Amino acid sequence: MSRYEAVRTNLRNNPRRWLVTGAAGFIGSNITKTLVELGQHVVGLDNFSSGYQRNIDQAVAGAEASGGSFRLVTGDIEDLAACRDACAEVDYVVHQAAIASVPRSMEDPIGVTRCNVDGFVNIITAARDAGARRMVYASSCAIYGDAPGTPKREEDEPRSLSPYAVTKQVNELYAAVYQRAFGIGTVGLRYFNVFGPRQDPDGPYAAVIPCWTRNMLMDEPCRIYGDGQTTRDFVYVDDVVQANILAALVEDEAATGTMYNVGSGVPTSLVDLYGAIRRALVDTRPELAGREPIFEPFRAGDVRHSRADVSKARAQLGFEPQFSIESGLAACVDWYAENLIPRSAELV
Ligand SMILES: NC(=O)c1ccc[n+]([C@@H]2O[C@H](COP(=O)([O-])OP(=O)(O)OC[C@H]3O[C@@H](n4cnc5c(N)ncnc54)[C@H](O)[C@@H]3O)[C@@H](O)[C@H]2O)c1
Repeated sequence: MSRYEAVRTNLRNNPRRWLVTGAAGFIGSNITKTLVELGQHVVGLDNFSSGYQRNIDQAVAGAEASGGSFRLVTGDIEDLAACRDACAEVDYVVHQAAIASVPRSMEDPIGVTRCNVDGFVNIITAARDAGARRMVYASSCAIYGDAPGTPKREEDEPRSLSPYAVTKQVNELYAAVYQRAFGIGTVGLRYFNVFGPRQDPDGPYAAVIPCWTRNMLMDEPCRIYGDGQTTRDFVYVDDVVQANILAALVEDEAATGTMYNVGSGVPTSLVDLYGAIRRALVDTRPELAGREPIFEPFRAGDVRHSRADVSKARAQLGFEPQFSIESGLAACVDWYAENLIPRSAELV
C-alpha cells in the first residue's frame, strides 16, 4: 500500500477538521473535493476575487454520500478577523489563497504583496493562535526564476524575477520562523505548472493548457512564443492534492519546517504539449487533426526550461506522481469540453 493510500484510509477512519483557503479557486476546489470525498470536515475561506461559486458547488457535490461536510466563510485573508473565524477549531490549514499571477504582480506589486504576504501572515498567525496542528501552503517554482540548471532542486539559490515570486519566497521565510519561534508545523509546496479541471481559461493571465484547449474547441488559434522547444513541468492537479494531504499528515517532524518541489518531474516542450492536447480532443473533434499552432517571436523574460526534481518530496513525504501529461489530459478533457465553452459560442 502506498503512503498516500495509507493516509487516505487513516483519514476515512478518523475524519479531521480542515481549513482550505482559496477553496473557490482551481487548486483549492480540487483539494476541497478530495477532502470532502474522504469524509473530512472542511471550512473554505475565499473572497471570490479569482474563484467561483460553481467550483465550490462541484467540489462539495459528494459531501452527503461520504459523511463529510463543508462550510464557506466568505472573507478576505487580508482581514485578520475573517482568518480567525475560519481557523477556529481546525486541525489542519491548507493555504492556497493568493493572487496567483506573475503579470498581475508586475502591474500591481503593492496589491499583490498585501494579499500574498500580509494575508499569509494573518493566516499563519490565526492558525497558530487556534492551535492548528500544521499549515501546508502553496509556494511556487517561480522562486527559481532564471537560476541556471535543470532539474530544479530545493537547495538551489532562488532567483525570483517578479514581485509574485518574491511574495512566495517571503512566505517560506515566515513559515520557517513561525515553526522555529512558535512551534506551528509548516510545509511549503513549490508547485510547478499545475493543470486540471476548474482551471480558469479566461482573462489575460490564463494558463496555457486551459487556454489552448478552449481555443482548439472554439476554432481559435493557439500561439507559441519562440521555437516551441521551451519546456515546462506540467503536473496534474490530483498529484498536487496528493502532495498537500501527505504534507499535512506526515508524521516525521523532521519533514516539516521546509519546502518541497511538486511537479511531475518530466519536461514537456510546448510543441509536444500542443500535440498532446490535440490528440486528447481529436476523437470527439476530428476536424482538429491537421491543426497547427501559430509561432510568434520569443517573449522577453520567459524562462527556457523548468522541471522539478521531486526526489525530496518522494523521500520525505512519500509523494508519487500518478499522472503523465497524457493521462492528466484524458482525465480532464471532458470537463474542459463541458465547462470551457461559453453557452453562446456552442450555439453558433
Ligand atoms: N496554478 C498553478 O499552476 C500554480 C503554480 C504555482 C503556485 N500556485 C499557487 O497555488 C495557489 C492556488 O492557485 P490557483 O491556480 O488555484 O489560483 P486561483 O486564482 O484559481 O485560486 C486562488 C483563490 O484564492 C482566492 N483569493 C485570492 N485572494 C484572496 C484573498 N485576499 N482572500 C481570500 N481569498 C482570496 C481567489 O478568489 C481564488 O479562489 C496560489 O497560492 C498560487 O500562487 C499555483
